[in-house]
Amino acid sequence: MDDNYVKIFDTTLRDGEQSPGATMTTPEKLEIARMLSRLGVDVIEAGFPAASNDDFDAVRCIAATVGSEAVSGRPQKTPPSICGLARAVERDLEWAAKAVAPAKFPRIHTFIATSDLHIEHKLRTTRADVLRRTSAMVRFARSLCADIEFSPEDAGRSDHEFLVEVVHAAIEAGATTINIPDTVGYLTPAEYGALIALLRERVPNSGRAIFSVHCHDDLGMATANSLAGIAAGARQAEVTINGLGERAGNAALEEVVMALATRRQRFGLTTGIDTTQLVRASKLVSQTIGFVVPPNKAVVGANAFAHESGIHQDGMLKNGLAYEIMLPASVGAGRTQLVLGKHSGRHAVGVRLGELGHELEGAALDAVFERYKAVADRKKQITDADLEAICSDSHIAPAGGEYSLLDLIVCCGTQGLATATVRINRPDGSVAVAAIIGSGPVDATFKAIDSILATSVTLLEYMVHAVTEGIDALGEVSVRVRDSEPVRDGDADAGSEARGQGRSEGIVYGNGADTDIVVASAKAYLKALNRVLAARPIRSHRTERFSQEKQGDTSS
Ligand code: KIV
Ligand code: ZN
Repeated sequence: MDDNYVKIFDTTLRDGEQSPGATMTTPEKLEIARMLSRLGVDVIEAGFPAASNDDFDAVRCIAATVGSEAVSGRPQKTPPSICGLARAVERDLEWAAKAVAPAKFPRIHTFIATSDLHIEHKLRTTRADVLRRTSAMVRFARSLCADIEFSPEDAGRSDHEFLVEVVHAAIEAGATTINIPDTVGYLTPAEYGALIALLRERVPNSGRAIFSVHCHDDLGMATANSLAGIAAGARQAEVTINGLGERAGNAALEEVVMALATRRQRFGLTTGIDTTQLVRASKLVSQTIGFVVPPNKAVVGANAFAHESGIHQDGMLKNGLAYEIMLPASVGAGRTQLVLGKHSGRHAVGVRLGELGHELEGAALDAVFERYKAVADRKKQITDADLEAICSDSHIAPAGGEYSLLDLIVCCGTQGLATATVRINRPDGSVAVAAIIGSGPVDATFKAIDSILATSVTLLEYMVHAVTEGIDALGEVSVRVRDSEPVRDGDADAGSEARGQGRSEGIVYGNGADTDIVVASAKAYLKALNRVLAARPIRSHRTERFSQEKQGDTSS
């Protein structure tokens, strides 16, 4: 392999999904995996198969499709490796091996904590046992899959001598990638770079493995730490779209990749990423999980290429390089090229959607086109941003039967209380109607929906934003709700123990777009409630899998 090539290992679907409230369904994960493949990532960490039946199914589905199909639009590119995470225990490794098996390039990523803090207080064991388990479990993983990555969890706070021993043992047992996680985002760039250099130098068999960086952003240093590790010889970067991830998140893919591309003279390194897809990938992830990208976010924020001050604007008009180090088009942030209107046909809409990275056909395209026509009747021009909103509102197929909005009539104003009447299609095909008063139009609408679905949830967040400029802009509403139904005994404990890190359950997100923001609100709320209902059996599966796991684990 080219010594100057840095592999991009995307963990949006695994570490990213561990962000509280970022849980995704299998169709959503599949759509993101397809986007990552188009983006050109080398490895997709698709999930943690032993964590739940749902995680297992999602990894297997991605391995069977994205991991084995040619990358659309990029015929020369091989499909990405599909990776499943596993603790260093046989049961996890077996689940991971089964899940990634259909991929052309399957990988298992196994980990065990190496800091004394984790060894004594979390694993309640000894360094000797961790060393023994590393050798035994990497060897076992290697008997299941040819491509094994090993991570000493909390490497950033581990004793260096012990880390050298553990990494040596992992490579001896067959690991071909050694990932060094700064699990709690504690190190500074100089310390993290020095750690990678030390391991490459001191581990006797280090030349037989690729070193990888995995940095968390608790102190805002994840991108800087990743770059320091790469400068010290790491040739794989573990990153997520928009920097999603546990707590403050992981290093952002777009930042690490654009730093390497923009400062190529300094680093002398390349990646396989098609950087013109970065903004699209960012939007897809943000719309799927409802985490709004801050306008000042590096590379993909709405203001990343906006110039406000007179001095800056003057400089830009004289020479674009005055205040811009990257071209907007190089990250896919170019201005809208094509404006569609109410006379545009299904074909033109389909072609434009394809250019935007949504390859839809048949019923999925019909559904989006129907929404498109409804919006185009009310809005003169449909921009790319509108299309993205329509698309995210329409085509992600519901998992099983769902409640959907048929009609909404709201009376509100200065005279008296707001009243909402909703007509809702139930999963069994019957129609329910409810009329309720509320303190305002949105409150009345949500109460009317609640009265039909009878799900008990707490509304945590409600946000409206205009997708495009203008009075006829499409409004997008996002809501975040918490399922108030009690979790069964032991559920939360078992889940967080198996992941090795905390995971917040029961918070889901829904979004909806419409030219009428009350209608958009109703759609967003219904989507969230449908997800609450769909997640309830998954929460039970997770409990079952983990209670088996706990029994199996005591012997290892
Ligand atoms: O941050 C971390 O330590 C991890 C490991 C599982 C690699 O995500
Ligand atoms: Zn992590």
